[in-house]
Amino acid sequence: MNIRLSDFIKTLNKLRKTKNLSSIKKQITGVKTKIALRNLGNENGAAIRGDILVSELEQILKSQTQQRALYYINRLHKSLKQTKTNPINDLNLSRWKEYDNIITDSLWLFDKRDSTGTHLGWYWGNFVPQIPHQLISRFTKRGDWILDPFCGSGTTLIECKKLGRNGIGVELNSRVAKKARQLISKEQNPYKVSTKIVTGDSHNPQFATRNYQLPTTNFQLAILHPPYHDIIKFSKNRSDLSNAKNTDGFLSMLGKVVDNVSKVLEKGRHLALVIGDKYHKREWIPLGFYSMNEILKRGYTLKSIIVKNFEETRGKRGQKELWRYRALSGGFYIFKHEYIFIFQKKNH
Ligand SMILES: C[S@@+](CC[C@H](N)C(=O)[O-])C[C@H]1O[C@@H](n2cnc3c(N)ncnc32)[C@H](O)[C@@H]1O
Repeated sequence: MNIRLSDFIKTLNKLRKTKNLSSIKKQITGVKTKIALRNLGNENGAAIRGDILVSELEQILKSQTQQRALYYINRLHKSLKQTKTNPINDLNLSRWKEYDNIITDSLWLFDKRDSTGTHLGWYWGNFVPQIPHQLISRFTKRGDWILDPFCGSGTTLIECKKLGRNGIGVELNSRVAKKARQLISKEQNPYKVSTKIVTGDSHNPQFATRNYQLPTTNFQLAILHPPYHDIIKFSKNRSDLSNAKNTDGFLSMLGKVVDNVSKVLEKGRHLALVIGDKYHKREWIPLGFYSMNEILKRGYTLKSIIVKNFEETRGKRGQKELWRYRALSGGFYIFKHEYIFIFQKKNH
């Protein structure tokens, strides 16, 4: 049987008037035992995490003075009664301790990809679903619109469906777009959001015009996962960023995509760039930082540089020893990380 949130709040209210520390502790111990055994549900059926509440109660029990205990009780009471929201996401900061799944460190280490639902990981060059999951949870609300101009297999759009956000992807390769559409349509849609993949070129000046049939021109988040220049050749199409002649050509094409995205991204909202570096003729090319600079020229504030671990691509997995030998003999390092740069569009 659930303990109702309203009953728990009533108990806390009574405790706030209790004058004696040992009596407070006795009552808290009683409540703690009940919570440890049962879930705490509110009237709408939403659950409050019991383990978090128990740790709050334990803190009260450790209080040396009545004043301290009352301070913790009042704080807990307030956090359960008040909802503290902000304009860019649905996190209730009064209950921030419950969001331990949301990463706030700048180092993201994932030991395996999320393979729930239709996340099959079939596309060479995809990203792990945890990346869009983190970004969407942190920077959007239910019903917001998310743009992914390098949609690939549609990882972002699958996460949109799971998290109740609308998502638009643009993908140059029509075969990839078709397969992605099929998979996305198989993903459940509990929040009845809209997702669409447009087959098109994100660096085309016509982007954001009628030709591209974007269902909205007002996005709240953009997630960009371009080719890491020519590390993987995605197609033979000249508009494909993986076919840029050199690093400058790549940066110029990426800049055009960012210009297009900026036309449809709401002011004050976030743009995330997921990218890695590359070697060219035994020289480390800091593609990530060059790309970061390209975006900073375009009216954005840098909010974070996240380093994410990177497992061997399928091609390299079988050649681990060979790569290690090459690294030792050639005096270089094997890539084990990529970047997630987070920018905020300036308000003016
Ligand atoms: C690194 S992959 C993105 C993978 C994606 N995040 C996923 O999880 O499947 C980059 C994608 O950008 C596409 N692409 C390259 N140039 C493009 C352009 N000019 N416009 C749109 N898509 C492009 C490629 O075909 C490729 O699918």
